[in-house]
This record gives sequence, structure tokens and C-alpha cells, in this order.
Amino acid sequence: MNLIARLLFSFSFVITLVSSMANAQSAQDFHSYANPAAVRVRHLDLDWEVLFDQKILKGTAVLTIERIATTKPLILDTRDLNIEKVETSTDDISYTPATFTLGPSDKILGAPLTIPLPAKANRVRIYYSTSPGASGLQWLAPAQTAGKKEPFVFTQSQAIHARSWIPLQDTPQVRVTYTAHVRTPRQLIAVMSAENLSGARDGDYNFRMRQPVPSYLIALGVGDLRFRKLGPRTGVYAEPSMIDLAARELSDTEKMVMATERLYGPYRWGRYDILVLPPSFPYGGMENPRLTFATPTILAGDKSLVSLVAHELAHSWSGNLVTNATWRDFWLNEGVTTYLERRILEAVYGHAREEMEATLGLRDLNEELAALPDPDEILHVDLKGRDPDDGSTDIPYEKGALFLRHLEQTFGRARFDRFLRAYFDHFAFQSITTEQFVAYLKQNLLDKDPALAARVPVDEWIYKPGLPANAPKPTSPAFALVEEQAMRWLRREANAEKIPTANWTTQEWLHFLKFVQDQLTKGFAGDRIVLSVPPGTALPGARMEELDKAFHLTRSGNSEIAFQWLMMSIINRYEPAYPRLEEFLLSIGRRKFIKPLYEELAKTPEGKERAMRIYRVARPTYHPIAVTSIDDVLKWPER
Ligand code: BES
Ligand code: ZN
Repeated sequence: MNLIARLLFSFSFVITLVSSMANAQSAQDFHSYANPAAVRVRHLDLDWEVLFDQKILKGTAVLTIERIATTKPLILDTRDLNIEKVETSTDDISYTPATFTLGPSDKILGAPLTIPLPAKANRVRIYYSTSPGASGLQWLAPAQTAGKKEPFVFTQSQAIHARSWIPLQDTPQVRVTYTAHVRTPRQLIAVMSAENLSGARDGDYNFRMRQPVPSYLIALGVGDLRFRKLGPRTGVYAEPSMIDLAARELSDTEKMVMATERLYGPYRWGRYDILVLPPSFPYGGMENPRLTFATPTILAGDKSLVSLVAHELAHSWSGNLVTNATWRDFWLNEGVTTYLERRILEAVYGHAREEMEATLGLRDLNEELAALPDPDEILHVDLKGRDPDDGSTDIPYEKGALFLRHLEQTFGRARFDRFLRAYFDHFAFQSITTEQFVAYLKQNLLDKDPALAARVPVDEWIYKPGLPANAPKPTSPAFALVEEQAMRWLRREANAEKIPTANWTTQEWLHFLKFVQDQLTKGFAGDRIVLSVPPGTALPGARMEELDKAFHLTRSGNSEIAFQWLMMSIINRYEPAYPRLEEFLLSIGRRKFIKPLYEELAKTPEGKERAMRIYRVARPTYHPIAVTSIDDVLKWPER
């Protein structure tokens, strides 16, 4: 190489280096106190005793750190942790006591733990315990489990709850490998989002995660669990009384993994297992690597709600492999995943099913768009000063998925599939910002075909509220038929039992119920038999009863259908469903269901009173994350 070429080469190298450093710094995470640009945690060795009687984890965390700015202290995120002592080491053999300061606690962020570091120190050992009210843990009494005999505890780290059970750099920009040693009562089993190195059920368990993961993906569950194999690398954990039902319901899991691999490349995490939790789990699912956490409310008996598995599995690519750098980039996790989820459903269950799910998704999105203020309709949402759990609306999920669908339809499926697959490979095990995504998209898709690119308003999709005028509009022919039947019933041209529902899927039922309610809410034009129905018309008790008698909706064992029916029952004051409503709210803690039900109840004085009466009993059984949401809905505590 001549001198000029060499100069140019090293110059471009410096530019690349500087720009990648700038990238790392420009992704400022407003939801962490950590300073990973100065000191970066690379590995964790965790050791806990699980103390059910005190509702605490007690033990140590050893952090292996990389010193970048050598004089800077280590700053960790914590929330409600009791820090006993801190030590540092230069060789991992001898540890010396260290000073530390725990800053004031912020309601959303918790408290920074600052540890000054001696020269050359590369390990920090923290002796600590959690608080019984830790936001990332739920301690269940035996009565809250299916078996009613043993207690249960599980974690939920996303978005920023890992800091309530581990002192760490709680930002998705920092990835760590880890080991964990967990001691539990002898009869219980511990599972983690990691390789399970344990043999016997003896209360002493070891785990190892060799792939670097962001903190929000570290997870632990302890309870009376059984395991059932589903496929060569797939399986399910559940309480003994649930394991058969769970294994039957989730028996397509291996097929789903294979379908996703065909689309987006190899599954890179070894095993894919699912942990079915007790019903207080506040989410539908959580994509903890190697071990998805799932609500038992997806066990409908007919596999009709397994789109949740497709979703959490898809995160093994979008989210766990390529991770949002900050919570304002959350749509990169959830939007891409929701798009993948639909592709998996189509591959495994066919096009009609995909169309139905996409159409239900679009309807939810439109409702959310009607309700949210403009700034919250932006994919690249500003969450500074807010709880990142507030960013969890339909916008990142459904608007994000629709954006990808627009790209797919514009550039063609083959080309877009190749693009996505290369994207996952390119950014594997990295955390990226929206800007990095856009730059990659431009370079590898848009700029290759400017004529097609001109049809997709990328900046509008990502940085503007609402939807672009030419956004895709998924439709479902099956739903069109359901709507015809619903209108016939609403116009009293057919009685409920005359509606040909025999072959309806859960999705068609959900669409029927929601469609009927929406018609009443917004009003519709009548015909010879029915005068026009003005907006906000209630369905009289007799007509609710007609539906209930024909379809046994109050008794539905399908949680999604029951939820939709209970919403309708509140709106139309259908009292025969109230005992079921109460039972539902007292036994299920999934936020997606209970929050809208409490919100709907709170709209009338009698409803509010009913809600308060139920919540007083239910509140101690809900997860801290659900409690935060419902307290807000009901303005708890009462004055
Ligand atoms: N990662 C989310 C759950 C989550 C998001 C937890 C934000 C905490 C903060 C998970 O993948 C998810 O989206 N779950 C959905 C189900 C899915 C099928 C849409 C849920 O729980 O409702
Ligand atoms: Zn998700």
C-alpha cells in the first residue's frame, strides 16, 4: 500500500471508530443512572437464597467490569435494595472492602449506587437483599397457585425492574453473560432464562448464560414445577395440575421454531422452553431467552390463543438478538416482533388466520390512535421523565408491524425477507437505536430501489403521529361474513341461535362481539324493522341475555372471549355477568384484561363502587406492576 492509500485507510478506520463511538453515546438512556461509556459491566456471578418466609432474595452479585475511563466510579441502578457491603478485587481471589453511596431514590428510576474503584479493580462484589415489595418480583402464597400447597416466586425485569432484584447497569445498551447459584426450599424447582446445569430436585440449582443479554432479559422462577418435553429442543414447565393441559395446548411450539428458522435463520439460543405461570402474571408473555414466561390464560383448550407463543418466540430474533438501545426504541423490539408473529402464524396456521389477527390488530391500533395524544402516536416516542412501562401501547406493536408490512408489500416478500434476515445477522447480539435501524434500512433496501422507496414515507412512519395515508389496511373475508351476521342480528332479522356460528374460530367470536358493541357505540342506520340506532345505545338486558343463552358467553372458558363479553356486560349493565366479572378480576392479574375492565367500571358511580369493592380484595394478589396501573385507574388509595 502506498502512503496515500495507507493514510486514507487509517483515516477511514478512525472515522468508523469515532462514528461508532458516537453512536454508542448518542443513544442516551434516560432510564438508567449507569455510565457504561466509562465503566461497563460484562459479566455477573449471582448467588441467592430464596427466602419465602421473608419474601426476599438474599445473596451476592459479583460484577466483572471493563474500565474505559479509568478514574470513573461504577454507577449501578438499584430500586429498594438493601446493600450490606461492597468489595472490590483485581484478581477475583482476594476482595477488599469498598465504600459506596446510595443516592436518593427516584419514584421511577430508583436509586444510583456509586462505587469508587481502586486502580486496576475489575471485580465488584455486592452483598445485598431485595425488599418484599420489589417491583420486579411477585411472591405468591400457596393459595395463589394452582396446587395451593407451595409458594411461588417469579421475576419480571422488563422494562426497568431488574434493578429491584439485582444491582446492575439496567439499560438495554449493556449486555452481560452470567452464572447463577440459587438455593430454594428442597421440594421446589428453580428455572432461569439460561442454561440449566442442575441435576436433581434438591433445592440447589446452577445456571449459566454464555450469550450476552440485556438486563431486562434476566429472569427467575421458583415453584412446584414439572417439565414436559414438546420437541427435540422445546418443552414446557408448569405446576403439576397444569402440565398436561399446557403440553397439549403448546404442542405446536417446535413447528413454530422451525417455521421461524426457515424465514429468518437459525434459532441461536439452544433450547426454547415455556414456563406457564400462575394467573397473577401481569403480562401475556415475556420473551426471556431460552424460557418464555407465559400467562395460563392462553390455555384455552383449542390452541386458539397460541399467537402469544409465536410472538414471544419471534423475540428470539427481534429483541433478544437485535435489541432496542433505549426504551424510546421499543418499537424495534415490539413492532418487528408483531410483524414476525403474523408471519409465523401464517406459516403454521395459514393465511386466513393471519388476516384475522392482523385485522384485529389494526382495529386495536385505530382505537388507540383515537385516544392517544399526538406525541404518543410516534414510533420513536419521547419517554423522558416517564415510566417506560407507559410506552407499552398499541403504537410500538401495531403501528410498528404495519410499517414493516408496508415495506414488505412495497418491496415484495422475497426481497423483504432477505433484508430482515440479513438485518438480524448484521446486528446480532447488539443493541441498536432507531437511527441505526433507519440507516441500515436506507443502505440495504431503500437506496437500492429509489422508485419503490418513494412509496414508503419512512420519516412519517417513525417520527409523525397517526398513520400515513397509504398505510396497508389488512382485511379478512371471514370477518366480513361475521359482520353480515352481526348486522342481521342487530337489525333483528335473525335470532342469535340462527346465526351460523358452528365453525367460528375464537378470532371470529372476538370480532363479532367487538363489532356488535362498536355498532351500538357509534350508532347505525336502521331498516324496515329497526329504526336508526343512535350513538351510545345500550343493548337491553333481554338482548344480552339472548346472546348469553345462545352462546354461553358468561361461562366462556376462553379468557379473551370472556374478557370481551365482560367489557360488553359492564357497558350494557348486564348484571347476570357480574359474579363472573368479580371472579375474573379476583383470579386473573393480566394487565391487558384487568386494566380495561376497571377503567370501564370506573366510568359510572355504581361501577366505580363495585370496582373499589373488588379491588380492595384483589389488590394484595396482584403483581406490583399491575398494582401501579390499577392504583392509577382507580385513584387508589381512597381519600
Ligand atoms: N416484551 C413484552 C412484554 C413487556 C413489554 C413487558 C413491555 C414489560 C414491558 C412481550 O413480548 C409482549 O409483548 N407481551 C404481550 C403479548 C403479545 C402477544 C402481544 C402481552 O403481554 O400482552
Ligand atoms: Zn413483545
